Amino acid sequence: MTSGIRRVDVGGAAPYAIDIGPGLLDDGARLAAQVRGRHVLVVSDTHVAPLYAARVASALQAKRADAQVIVSCIASGEASKTLASFAELSRELAELGATRDACVFALGGGVVGDLAGFAAACWMRGIDVVQLPTTLLAMVDSSVGGKTAVDLPQGKNLIGAFHPPRAVLADTDTLRTLPARELRAGFAEVIKYGAIVDAAFLDWLQAHAEALLASDPTALAQAIARSCEHKAAIVTRDPREHGERALLNFGHTFAHAIESEQGYGGCNHGEAVAIGMVLAARLSTALGLAPAADADRLRMLLQQFGLPVALPPGLDPEALLARMRLDKKAQAGGLRFVLWERAGAARVQPAVPDDAVRQVLHST
Ligand code: NAD
Ligand code: GLY
Repeated sequence: MTSGIRRVDVGGAAPYAIDIGPGLLDDGARLAAQVRGRHVLVVSDTHVAPLYAARVASALQAKRADAQVIVSCIASGEASKTLASFAELSRELAELGATRDACVFALGGGVVGDLAGFAAACWMRGIDVVQLPTTLLAMVDSSVGGKTAVDLPQGKNLIGAFHPPRAVLADTDTLRTLPARELRAGFAEVIKYGAIVDAAFLDWLQAHAEALLASDPTALAQAIARSCEHKAAIVTRDPREHGERALLNFGHTFAHAIESEQGYGGCNHGEAVAIGMVLAARLSTALGLAPAADADRLRMLLQQFGLPVALPPGLDPEALLARMRLDKKAQAGGLRFVLWERAGAARVQPAVPDDAVRQVLHST
């Protein structure tokens, strides 16, 4: 193992490794080791491709001169996570003549990862995808676990598939170019792991907030590795969300409703998750499940990381409730939320009364 690279293993039926550290995008041998066939589609976006796509392609080609490598670039942002983009990637795979041993490199944030992963899941019923996450959020969450999807105007991630990556290579050097707002957004998902399963991690994050926000490489690598260890353990035990994986959706029922109600052009995903976690914690208190002090502490930690903690103005609670009924976590018996009993102890709560949710939505 190259020095400075941490490895986290994901187990289960299709095991793979998450490598975390600097310089991975230039490591042609490591990239080439993931490519079984001769066709590689590098999917990226208009912010990331100019910074990193040529480097990845040339590092790979230096070790695999026989491979045909093309770069496909989508417009950056959630609004690109669509069926139209999926169709465009499928067309490019066809033009490349991609065979069943072809490989998709998903070079970017969670939008690229989810979309490219979905294209890989569907092309010839499933080809390899290597996740090359370039946002903090993608490194700690979306690149791991095999959830792939596109959005519909009616709701987030409504069309998708489980398709685990062949490998995840998280090059932490890429975080140097990440805009500050996007770095902060990633901390929402990092804080989520503390909230759902690791209260001590919340203390650590509070103590290291300054270093983390200043992109201190040691602190960041620790936060990424600890987050990935939690995600890897959960998805190894429950890859298809039959049980505990649902805990990873803490705050997400609210978040997805906010994002889709804003037409995917308001809060980014991490910001929506931050607000959603505050609402989920308040809902837990309102239902008598958890102490109010824990909800207050979570809100303050999110604020410390520069994240929003209240609903953006102009959102109609009734419209959000209607959106939540279409969420994948909803069931015929009523709204189902991931709530908590205290920091570090989340649980799934079925049949939450609409009125309790309404009250919480009106309280912000
Ligand atoms: P994103 O992919 O939109 O990236 C955020 C912004 O940062 C974009 O403008 C992008 O172009 C830019 N960017 C990315 N890397 C950069 C870099 N290194 N330097 C400069 N700019 C860079 O957003 P995200 O927050 O990474 O991902 C959000 C998406 O992930 C949402 O669609 C969400 O639903 C999904 N998600 C999926 C899972 C999963 O399990 N599959 C989990 C969490 C989130
Ligand atoms: N981000 C939620 C999950 O991977 O299950």
